[in-house]
Amino acid sequence: MAVLVTGGAGYIGSHICLELIECGYDIVVVDNFSNSKFEALRRVMEMGNQSFPVYNLDLHNQKELSTIFDRHSIDAVIHLAGYKSVRDSTIDPINYYWNNIVSTLTLLEVMQMQDVYKLVFSSSATVYKASDKMPITEDYPLEACNPYGRTKLIIEQLLKDVHDSDPNWHITILRYFNPIGAHKSGRIGEDSNGTPNNLVPYLSNVAIGNYPKLYIFGNDYPTKDGTGVRDYIHVVDLAKGHIRALSRMEDMKGLEVFNLGTGTGYSVLELVKAFSQVSKKEIAYTITSRRNGDVAECYADVTKANNQLGWQAEKDIHEMCQDAWRWQQQNPNGY
Ligand code: UD1
Repeated sequence: MAVLVTGGAGYIGSHICLELIECGYDIVVVDNFSNSKFEALRRVMEMGNQSFPVYNLDLHNQKELSTIFDRHSIDAVIHLAGYKSVRDSTIDPINYYWNNIVSTLTLLEVMQMQDVYKLVFSSSATVYKASDKMPITEDYPLEACNPYGRTKLIIEQLLKDVHDSDPNWHITILRYFNPIGAHKSGRIGEDSNGTPNNLVPYLSNVAIGNYPKLYIFGNDYPTKDGTGVRDYIHVVDLAKGHIRALSRMEDMKGLEVFNLGTGTGYSVLELVKAFSQVSKKEIAYTITSRRNGDVAECYADVTKANNQLGWQAEKDIHEMCQDAWRWQQQNPNGY
């Protein structure tokens, strides 16, 4: 029995693949490599000391996808494949809706035809309505404010409909807060295509000297120091959450939603300070205006994942920065 990982070559996917191997799962990866490199999987194979089938395939290709299910005995799917840039989604929404939603529909169709009913879906805290009431629990009102976020929300809603139509489905939706860091070996990590939009990849590039300084988007938020507060979670802790979700689905049907975060919020300035301490580099920064669509604070209530998945993030902000920095130093230009 194998787990199919869609988008398995990506930043989060590669860490999940390694974790799955280390926990004894057989895996099969499908990725169209639009925002990832095979080298990530080659390293996962080396680190996990085993190879696994990798298909360079777009999920829209229903025929080929079916063939993969015919060829391997797939028991469950972890679905990560999708575009993830908020900015790009506002420039080319059709492409985002097509890529994220239509491919998910194709995957679900194939799973249904093949009688595979276990699915873990990679969602995001971006589906929560902006609020000043923190921390956020899973039953908090949902509302997305950009096309990327709407693709995640629409997929969540369609998964609920699919589940309601047929109780055979076991579906787990995981809402990620802000995944950062890298595997402690420094061999796999986040390899951004072009200029990074997210804080930590940008910060690491400043520390290594690829960019002169960081632009902090606003210091007039109603937060501890005026800069945005987020729930940063180590990518390896996040990957472990997927393993817990998979094993929980072995014996429990139904659809469940879990926040994956640490439950603690850090400001941009706190993160800059932590990164500067571990890298022993001065991080130059300038305060600029707020970024459109940013909220002041966003951090998770993780009680449900603690209680029902038996999962808890273990790595603190220093370890996250240390591991991100190790990856950056060992791979200054990515893979
Ligand atoms: C962003 C996305 C979110 C997505 C997530 C994936 C937006 C508005 N949100 O979350 O939908 O699910 O990435 O990881 O893009 N910051 C700076 N300077 C920078 C970059 C960021 O000051 O160069 C600040 C931001 O204003 C924010 C914090 O750092 O306060 C974190 O930003 P980021 O890493 O982009 O994550 P989110 O915006 O939380």
